[in-house]
Amino acid sequence: MPKCTYYTHSFVTANMPFVTSPLLICQAMKILVTGGAGFIGSHTVVSLSEAGFTPVILDNFSNSNPEVLAGLEAILGYPVIFYEGDCNDSGIYSRIFTEHEIGSIIHFAAYKAVGESMEQPLKYYRNNLGSLLALLDSMQQHGAGNLIFSSSCTVYGEPDQVPVTENTPVKPASSVYGNTKQIGEEILQDVASSLPFSIISLRYFNPVGAHPSGLIGELPIGVPNNLVPFVTQTAAGIREVITIFGNDYPTPDGTCIRDYIHVMDLAEAHVAALNHLLKVKREKYYDVFNVGTGTGNSVLEVVNTFDQVNNMHVAHQFGPRRSGDVIAVWGNVDKSAEVLGWKASRSLAQALKDAWNWQNRLPKP
Ligand code: UD1
Repeated sequence: MPKCTYYTHSFVTANMPFVTSPLLICQAMKILVTGGAGFIGSHTVVSLSEAGFTPVILDNFSNSNPEVLAGLEAILGYPVIFYEGDCNDSGIYSRIFTEHEIGSIIHFAAYKAVGESMEQPLKYYRNNLGSLLALLDSMQQHGAGNLIFSSSCTVYGEPDQVPVTENTPVKPASSVYGNTKQIGEEILQDVASSLPFSIISLRYFNPVGAHPSGLIGELPIGVPNNLVPFVTQTAAGIREVITIFGNDYPTPDGTCIRDYIHVMDLAEAHVAALNHLLKVKREKYYDVFNVGTGTGNSVLEVVNTFDQVNNMHVAHQFGPRRSGDVIAVWGNVDKSAEVLGWKASRSLAQALKDAWNWQNRLPKP
């Protein structure tokens, strides 16, 4: 029997899943989404809701903004279930697991700035691994067994061959951030081999874009580290010029190559992974999947495509290489297609249009 919760909010709408009367909402399966106010987390909340799940968000806004929740509610047409708290705090998990019947968790919450991770390694190890351990402890305590973990293509380091498959050897991490993802995967593999957990690590390539409504998107705090937010902020006049880090790489145009995936495609990959876990119903299950498009694009191609699809010219200049950057990486995504039944369907052009639509709607600073 699904659990039912009564809402008296005036904005109960026809959009709500499982509405049996205007005021009675039979809750679908609840999924805890740590970091659900973040870039990938918030888009995944939308996809989960569209797929009929009820997300329960836990976030401390360390790299996000409370306004994301308003954006989510505007898209979904109903209030989101939200807890403000630190993912290292086992107390907050106890509260959530007591107040909601949660069987599955998607764990996004983590620090992700490569450069900062080298300057403040303890902060990264403590947060990214501490929160994972606290979550696993709570899951064990409360009998919640399904977990999807945000991993990264960074685990492949500088690969000898592209595209990388899930069998491509994991290379020594080139940053503390990358190491937290590698160690995270190792912890999960160990846990799933001896405890009754079912776990998937999704190795993300480079998420870009925004929800087509422009109501949620990527909102980095301070100067963006990542390429696309820097491009959109330059287009908006917040930054003067985008510096392309290196044009002397051994690639066709001399700039680095990445696999840029629309964040809505990435969000939908989580729903596919979750459905897979629910379908296989296996304990002691662990697997990893690449989540990319299967295509690489250079930094220059991204900047030029942005100009083209948005009919503008973003000032760019070439600068020195950025330390720690790999030359080229993109993913083979056959395994995700075969096992999860998921494939990216949106183009880079669409992602860059959506990213600009989002940026353009933000109030000018
Ligand atoms: C890195 C990590 C990735 C992580 C992500 C989170 C690696 C290999 N990848 O992605 O796992 O999830 O950070 O933040 O560690 N660029 C410019 N100018 C800029 C910004 C970026 O030229 O102002 C270039 C970079 O040199 C790179 C490309 O754009 O070639 C993409 O950079 P970025 O968006 O920062 O992502 P990654 O470094 O690939």
